[in-house]
Amino acid sequence: MMSDRNEVEDWVINPDLSHNDMEGKQPHVDNGTETLDSYRYSSKDFMDLEWERMWTRVWLIAGVESDIPEAGDYLLYKIRNEEIIVVRQDDHSVKAFYNVCAHRGNRLVFNERGTVAQFTCAFHSWQYGLNGCLNKITDENTFKPDVIKHRPGMSSLRCETKAGLIFINMDDDAPPLAERIGLPEGYLEQYHMEKMHVVRHVVAEWRSNWKNGVDAFYETYHLHAIHPQTQGVMADIGTQYDVYPHGAQRMIVPIGCKSPRLEDQETVSEDLNYMMTSEGMDASKFSGSANEVRLAIAKHKRQRAKKLGFDYDHFTDTQLMDSWATGIFPNVQIGMHPEGCFLMRFLPHPTDPNRFFYNTMILFRPAEDPKYRAPDWMGIPEGTDLSGKNRPDTEYVPAGEPANLGDVIDQDVQLLEDVQAGTSSRGFKGALWGEQEQRIRHYQREVDRYIHGEK
Ligand code: FES
Ligand SMILES: [Fe+2]
Repeated sequence: MMSDRNEVEDWVINPDLSHNDMEGKQPHVDNGTETLDSYRYSSKDFMDLEWERMWTRVWLIAGVESDIPEAGDYLLYKIRNEEIIVVRQDDHSVKAFYNVCAHRGNRLVFNERGTVAQFTCAFHSWQYGLNGCLNKITDENTFKPDVIKHRPGMSSLRCETKAGLIFINMDDDAPPLAERIGLPEGYLEQYHMEKMHVVRHVVAEWRSNWKNGVDAFYETYHLHAIHPQTQGVMADIGTQYDVYPHGAQRMIVPIGCKSPRLEDQETVSEDLNYMMTSEGMDASKFSGSANEVRLAIAKHKRQRAKKLGFDYDHFTDTQLMDSWATGIFPNVQIGMHPEGCFLMRFLPHPTDPNRFFYNTMILFRPAEDPKYRAPDWMGIPEGTDLSGKNRPDTEYVPAGEPANLGDVIDQDVQLLEDVQAGTSSRGFKGALWGEQEQRIRHYQREVDRYIHGEK
């Protein structure tokens, strides 16, 4: 099989590195060449199978730890028709419970985030501790002892934290997160997301299947056609794609350089000058060529980090510039940068396979220095409080309304509606993925392992 493989072109950021290095090209995984069934994008039956066999059995990112710093802080994670409360305990650990009262099933909390001393049900005032244990049954002496002898508490589910992220799993028998995350130990931890805070959170309803959403974010193959404005600052076909066990994968997208598709690789364009300026460099003093800009910015960032008290020593030069867009199975992409991370979750609609929720958080690592601003490419609106002390409200955007997330996202919204229509057509025979789309094939094959009962 290797001979077939070698004929396919694959970009590698740094060919001197081995696969043991975080940045190194990972060993090839043979995901075959098969065309997978197209009804995965539009069938209600497939959607229900995904729920029964996948969503309820895998580790899912429910939120970030910095959103619940103190005991009693909780957040509510919604997926399809389930609601899960994730709450910080007195011992600083985190527990997860279904948002349901053991008495007659009322919802216990209604806000997306909040702080409680205990959970009190609004229906008949039963009370539960932060640990989910039953604290009080109203008029307990009016219950026959047999009905309540098990001291009914809140219904719990698995919960683990890693690298500042909170994961839940509805399956009591699922292997631990460490076995299933697929990424090398220390990979996520490098970016210190636990020190980052949500500075913007948007949940937008989009008119496509969640997998069409994920697919579009897992490759840079479409940039030249859908987002041509990125060609001056992103090396679309210079992206390195890697896959890991259990459906995890990543791409390293070189940023601060021109697309290799452009003929002129020398002239420092306005885009690149702007990029240097927005990083706080004096672009007029830069005398190199376009392909030297990227490392010049990386060098500048390293020096600035020292002044700001950030430890960047463990980051490679390219890591300081490039986007390590990392996919955690099944529905996550984290655009990872030392300054901050873009945590995107693609969540299925409760009933409609032709819709999903694009749930995107911008996480930012604040510095003591009040003059330190987020770089422009992070897309944080002017005037945003970057201190991490005031968690902004989530912005909800109904389908068809602008999410105010920039041109690239607007272009994707339109694209996905068209792709959804096309992938639902009788004329569509299933996606034909190239090696720039290897991440898609990799996670979709993993979806199928759950659907077919192999996992
Ligand atoms: S349903 Fe919660 S106390 Fe009755
Ligand atoms: Fe896109």
